[in-house]
Amino acid sequence: MPTPLIIDTDPGVDDAVAVVLALRSPEVDVRAVTVAFGNVALGFTLPNARKLLALAGRTDVPVAAGAARPLVYPQAEEAADWHGADGLGGRAASLLAEAPLDPRPAVDVMTEVLRHAAEPVTIASIGPLTNTALLLATHPELIGRIGRIVVMGGSLGAGNTTGAAEFNIYADPEAAHRVLTQPDVPVTLVPLDLTMRCAAPGPWIDALSAGSAIGAVLADILLAYRAAFRERFGRDAAALHDAVALLEAIVPGTLRTTPLPIRVACDHGPGRGATVPDGRPDAPGPMVHVALDADVDAVLEEIARRLRD
Ligand code: RIB
Ligand code: CA
Repeated sequence: MPTPLIIDTDPGVDDAVAVVLALRSPEVDVRAVTVAFGNVALGFTLPNARKLLALAGRTDVPVAAGAARPLVYPQAEEAADWHGADGLGGRAASLLAEAPLDPRPAVDVMTEVLRHAAEPVTIASIGPLTNTALLLATHPELIGRIGRIVVMGGSLGAGNTTGAAEFNIYADPEAAHRVLTQPDVPVTLVPLDLTMRCAAPGPWIDALSAGSAIGAVLADILLAYRAAFRERFGRDAAALHDAVALLEAIVPGTLRTTPLPIRVACDHGPGRGATVPDGRPDAPGPMVHVALDADVDAVLEEIARRLRD
């Protein structure tokens, strides 16, 4: 029986790979795609999500608009320099078909999925955690229906948006703290420490393009992101952060995790948005399962396999 899955996303180039990966994985049943601001504004991430569902032939999946801004403070910065002004590497306009918009707010769609699922639901949060935080805050009665939350975000080492903070967490630190300190829900955090190790090399992306029609579209969406990675890091590759997190949501246990309490810095100093582990033996919980290791080659091959025809 496939696991019910909600994907909360801010597409986003790596989100695009992640969403298509989930839709092509029989282990999960994508019950809803909920969308937030993030890489670019909601005015772009929302149609991008609709375009991705149409691209994957899944216009049946409910797609709904969530937060247009963070819970408390304005978003400090977007990531258009990585994802393009349109959020899909400049290719959004070429994706003409869009799945119909579910008119309900994202949290309402999430709660309906939770209420009607016959088994615990996995939530894969691969953008700012605002929608997920709102769900937890407004529907504590549904916490027990969440099987696990898999979050792409954070870093125990350097950030990618500031020296201390990774983008998804930095976009809404208050929301991230809310989710990462939620008791009674298994939370897996997939941080930059691992996703950067899983960066897909250029030949992997070329093989993606040759492997299926949808892979060719994804490789095209990845072009600018891949170029930005080469310019920034000096090698031909692309960090598919969200796809690594989705693979863990699809195949639990793919990534090797370490239980650590995580606190998010919500001050306005240089550390804002940092994900701070508490390694003390008697550290107060709740524990977050932090994914710090994996068979990187196996992860990349498994993502590639699912995107090939
Ligand atoms: O830091 C990487 C994360 O930020 C990914 O989810 C990417 O899509 C961006 O949202
Ligand atoms: Ca994302």
